[in-house]
Amino acid sequence: MGIRISNLSKTFLINNGEKRIDALLNIHLEVEDQEFICLVGPSGCGKSTLLKILAGLEAADEGLATLDEEIISKPDPDRGMIFQEYALFPWRTVRKNVEFGLEIKGYRPEQRLRISQKYLALVGLLGFADAYPHQLSGGMKQRVAIARSLSLDPKILLMDEPFGALDAFSRLRMQEEITRIWNEEHRTVVFVTHDIDEAIFLGDRVVVMTPQPGRIKSIIPIGLGRPRNRNSHDFLRIRDRVYAEFALYNTDAGESTDDETGWGEHLPAAGVAGAVTTVADLNSYWPE
Ligand SMILES: Nc1ncnc2c1ncn2[C@@H]1O[C@H](COP(=O)(O)OP(=O)(O)O)[C@@H](O)[C@H]1O
Ligand SMILES: [Mg+2]
Repeated sequence: MGIRISNLSKTFLINNGEKRIDALLNIHLEVEDQEFICLVGPSGCGKSTLLKILAGLEAADEGLATLDEEIISKPDPDRGMIFQEYALFPWRTVRKNVEFGLEIKGYRPEQRLRISQKYLALVGLLGFADAYPHQLSGGMKQRVAIARSLSLDPKILLMDEPFGALDAFSRLRMQEEITRIWNEEHRTVVFVTHDIDEAIFLGDRVVVMTPQPGRIKSIIPIGLGRPRNRNSHDFLRIRDRVYAEFALYNTDAGESTDDETGWGEHLPAAGVAGAVTTVADLNSYWPE
């Protein structure tokens, strides 16, 4: 059960079909029920494309994705999606935003109230039930979006850089919030980010992706309890390992001058990972 992605590939053609972009190539991934998995990688490595395929918003060219052994081919309330943009209705109060999906599904007002109450309490926004989105901070808006998704009781939550628009402090707080919420409401979560620390703070496993073509480079089990201490020895050790994955990739790609990926901006200085240059270096750097 859970999510199974097998041999999945997706190509986009642009410039009237002259240029081909291999957004995803041969992706294999299994996500267990109630697992929190983070996809991390630079801009353009296919994270959003993969998430859209899981949401049923985009179709794969090859391979398939299943949820509980059913092929994903269209959107379904079983799969709640949360984007970087808050996507709230500005003319609806916080509570009415949370209840929106329930209205569409034909829930009676007292059922809606019971459910919205539960999830507003879970995200700590009961006191703001009658406020409008423009009266909230970015982090609060994102908590409304989370409550709205959870109210439909999805099997999985798909989150695409949900904290990407927040300032650094709000982002750290929201990482703690989502950890707390997930501890109370265990769901399967696929969480996309380009922030390595965020991925390690949140995930049971971190899937490292690289672009052109978009591939899974490695999958790193985190194995730390929650909430996590960002400064603990174990956290920093895993962080070094993830950085090493990217530094190694940088070395391989160093010869190319055709840097459309924005890699340069995202990469740590070569020294951060201990000047890893070869697979052998990586192995000695990270003995299994
Ligand atoms: N609808 C589209 N049409 C053409 N190219 C696309 C489309 N969506 C994504 N791409 C391309 O596919 C690659 C992967 O994009 P995306 O999944 O958005 O990456 P990420 O979310 O990791 O930044 C990028 O090179 C992007 O330009
Ligand atoms: Mg994206």
